[in-house]
Amino acid sequence: MEKLVVKGGKKLFGTADVPAAKNALLPIIAAAYMLDGESCIKQCPQLSDIFASRDIINSTGSTAFIHNGDFSVIYSDSQIYEIPQELCSTMRSSVLYLAPMLYRRGKAAIYMPGGCRIGKRPVDIHIDGLCRMGARAECDDEKIVLTAEDGLKGVTYKLRIPSVGATQTLIMAAATAKGITVLKNCAREPEIVDLARFLNRAGAKITGAGKNEIIIRGVSSLSGVEYTPVPDRIFAATILSAVNACGGMCRIRNYPVEYMEYFEKILRRTGLVSLHFSDSAFVFKAADIAADINIHTGYYPAFSTDMGPLLSAAMVNNSGTLNMYETVFENRFSYSTEFEKLGMCCKVEGRNYIQKRKKEVYTANLTAKDLRAGAAAVVAALAKKGCFTIDNIGYIDRGYEKIEDVFSSLGADIRRVSVGRQETDETE
Ligand code: EPZ
Repeated sequence: MEKLVVKGGKKLFGTADVPAAKNALLPIIAAAYMLDGESCIKQCPQLSDIFASRDIINSTGSTAFIHNGDFSVIYSDSQIYEIPQELCSTMRSSVLYLAPMLYRRGKAAIYMPGGCRIGKRPVDIHIDGLCRMGARAECDDEKIVLTAEDGLKGVTYKLRIPSVGATQTLIMAAATAKGITVLKNCAREPEIVDLARFLNRAGAKITGAGKNEIIIRGVSSLSGVEYTPVPDRIFAATILSAVNACGGMCRIRNYPVEYMEYFEKILRRTGLVSLHFSDSAFVFKAADIAADINIHTGYYPAFSTDMGPLLSAAMVNNSGTLNMYETVFENRFSYSTEFEKLGMCCKVEGRNYIQKRKKEVYTANLTAKDLRAGAAAVVAALAKKGCFTIDNIGYIDRGYEKIEDVFSSLGADIRRVSVGRQETDETE
């Protein structure tokens, strides 16, 4: 078992490179399973969710491997249509294999997907949409089995809510369905646009991605391609949050400026300055300005739910009040107990979260409660003077490749240590 040890209170200086977005990569890797021949997804960060995607594809008889940061998928026919339970339970994105598997085998079986426990996260829209396209479903509490021996057919379908994952499932399903599919009330996140771009590069006919309505003309097959996904806007927000909370000045390369406007606008009120040059941003903390921030999270282009914990971390040294209302997930504020240990006053009432600085604390043992809660705990610890540990860091490794290296290269004092059995028992 491993944990992070942080000696916080240092300003950050240096350069950070934004990797390809995990939330673009995961659906693109699943979609690569629908492409004939070989596909190569470039500049893939080494994340545990990426390794899980590789293992899922290999478990079905096809080949996936990562070499020099490139993720390759070579499709082969086989009879396997079921993804093992231990792989489904590692991540939510295992549900994204339903549509590719239905296309390849006419049958798909997965176990209830795991992932961060940020809410109930049902998969009803994925299944309902696929059934409307002609699949038959047999589901119980543990397993989902879908069958469509004669393939799927195009329909007009309105999503109950603009779910990112369900929009991705239905785009993939429609890409090779017979006829035309019109999807309404779609998610509009940049990662949706990127999936459509990837599939179109492979020969699909998808228009409207990034808008409420997406129209897909089904094609009979897709061909292998090489592709570089969009930069990770949540990673970029993590660096902005850290510079805001710790102070200092950083250059962020491969910066997805068009998706950062909202987050930058809020942090500007607390004294962060950002300058944009070509594909880079220079960000620095010009002043400590007390600001009361009131914000609702929401579906893109509203303020991203994944950036909520990072905004909380950005505010740990601000003497204003953060008031955040979460509209997407029921349990997004798990980090509040950890922030309390850092001397913050945090109040969670249903979907509402209020945070204010209360007192200085110089040591605490923190736990990563989920991926973004874990990243927020790291940023908050970096910003506070004192020595802190963060455990349960498997969550953080799902979305950040060696987060300790990212921040060490900016001058932070953070390292990963192995925890011996005896120490584990004592801290439990
Ligand atoms: C994606 O999750 C992201 N994950 C999440 O990022 C992100 O928080 C979320 O979108 C919202 O932006 C990936 O892309 C891999 P949803 P997803 O389906 O697709 C409900 C991170 O930290 N819903 O848009 O699972 C659901 O319960 C992760 O990187 C249904 O009710 O999110 C939620 O309340 C965490 N039925 C809302 O929709 C369904 O069938 C939005 O979920 C599907 C979803």
